[in-house]
Amino acid sequence: MNETDPSSREKPADQRPEHPDFWCKRFGQGTTPWDAGRVPQDLADFAASQPAPMTTLIPGCGSAWEAGFLASRRWPVTAIDFSPVAIDTARSVLGDSPVDLVCTDFFQWQPPAPLDLIYERAFLCALPRKLWDDWARRIAELLPAGGLLAGYFFVCDQPKGPPFGILPEQLDALLQPAFERIEDRPVADSIPVFAGRERWQVWKRKG
Ligand SMILES: C[S@@+](CC[C@H](N)C(=O)[O-])C[C@H]1O[C@@H](n2cnc3c(N)ncnc32)[C@H](O)[C@@H]1O
Repeated sequence: MNETDPSSREKPADQRPEHPDFWCKRFGQGTTPWDAGRVPQDLADFAASQPAPMTTLIPGCGSAWEAGFLASRRWPVTAIDFSPVAIDTARSVLGDSPVDLVCTDFFQWQPPAPLDLIYERAFLCALPRKLWDDWARRIAELLPAGGLLAGYFFVCDQPKGPPFGILPEQLDALLQPAFERIEDRPVADSIPVFAGRERWQVWKRKG
């Protein structure tokens, strides 16, 4: 390494949230303040209101509490995470639940079957801002017309993260080209790290 080599100025991988080592370190240490340890109520209500099971992707699933819940309702669920330690944690949470649990990068993953739903919780806010446009593009590519993006968005002015806050106009700019927002409300059962700054939203893919 020398001082003119840009890579020599880059932080170590376990300090960069775009790298799996960042998350492996935190799961390995048990430092997971984002982990609700349960299924959030808005998701439970959303699932109960659907007329039929939805083929669902959970990107950046972490411990994957929601994946087991949806699978127990006979929803076909793929839960992905690029941290092998997160996947080990999810495997112990899920036991023999029939979730398709895959260690992969969201930006590389290809769906084996068409999706009805992408469930968002603490994934977008885990991504550095430089990846947000790619996130929105990939979400829009993965969902067919009428498909839903539903979940929790960390809507606030918090530039340092993770969690990285997103302003309402930034979220609109990311999603409105391809989606119409059909639900938006405050969250009543947030855990402390998100409390008062989290919204449940559902976005429908335009045709
Ligand atoms: C803040 S945690 C949230 C975990 C879980 N969604 C939850 O609500 O508890 C963010 C997760 O996203 C994963 N992650 C970050 N970037 C990823 C990527 N490009 N592909 C797949 N997983 C990723 C991390 O490994 C981590 O488990």
